[in-house]
Amino acid sequence: MSDFDLSGKICIVTGGGRGIGRGMAEGLVRNGATVVIAGRTLATLEEAAEAIGGGTWGHATDVSVEADVIALRDAVLSRHGKIDVLVNNAGVDPIFKGIERTSLDEWRHIIDINLTGLFLCCKYIGGAMTAGGSVINVSSVAGHVGLMRSVPYCASKGGAELLTKSLAIDWAKRGVRVNTLAPGWVDTDLTHQLLEHAEHGQRMLAGTPMGRFGTPRDMAGGVAFLASNASAFMTGQSLVIDGGWTAA
Ligand SMILES: NC(=O)c1ccc[n+]([C@@H]2O[C@H](COP(=O)([O-])OP(=O)(O)OC[C@H]3O[C@@H](n4cnc5c(N)ncnc54)[C@H](OP(=O)(O)O)[C@@H]3O)[C@@H](O)[C@H]2O)c1
Repeated sequence: MSDFDLSGKICIVTGGGRGIGRGMAEGLVRNGATVVIAGRTLATLEEAAEAIGGGTWGHATDVSVEADVIALRDAVLSRHGKIDVLVNNAGVDPIFKGIERTSLDEWRHIIDINLTGLFLCCKYIGGAMTAGGSVINVSSVAGHVGLMRSVPYCASKGGAELLTKSLAIDWAKRGVRVNTLAPGWVDTDLTHQLLEHAEHGQRMLAGTPMGRFGTPRDMAGGVAFLASNASAFMTGQSLVIDGGWTAA
């Protein structure tokens, strides 16, 4: 059997109904896994689950609500009896405002979903995983370098990077690995307007040595690698997939 084979693995992908999360769910299924996609909009999840196939199903969950995260864990355990892989992908975008114009509510909204959501999913779902499990936190290049006018988003993604390292140390003895996958600019609902913007989009493209934006499918191989035995000795690390943006 290939080290990349995910047959028999039960995976949860938050934010798996569209964008990068959907691309990751498709990649996990292609490698043999059974995937549960979670997000706030059940209709989107059901449509995506049917299109993805391979036994994929959806569960309505707001990752920033403690009771929702516990209900997601319990639903997956009652249907499959175990959870092998947790992909914490649900997230909201930068608002591109200077700190002087950023309200406390805007700060809280981004931190609640991107960072507190990650904390809750790691605590309740990661906490229920057993030896051999893999947690993959979707961070960003903005967890590695600062972006202009993006204080709450960068704080949330930088927080995700160090939450991951700290948890990886705590859970190494349990045999549960914790890593991040950090995408560069990927064309999704979250970024489409920005990437289409004549000035900003061109600047981001010019800063990407590979000369194109990423696609959700570009993230699929990385998540399958981190989910699989091929990365069995890797924990507390960040896999950056950005067409060379942070190398430039
Ligand atoms: N696109 C990029 O260029 C890029 C770059 C670096 C990192 N990222 C990160 O990659 C992840 C996915 O981004 P994307 O571009 O695919 O965004 P997207 O197309 O806007 O999708 C976001 C997903 O997250 C879900 N979501 C949002 N808030 C949620 C909540 N409170 N609870 C549960 N699910 C929630 C959404 O579903 P519902 O709205 O139905 O809940 C949706 O499925 C995010 O963490 C983002 O920060 C993206």
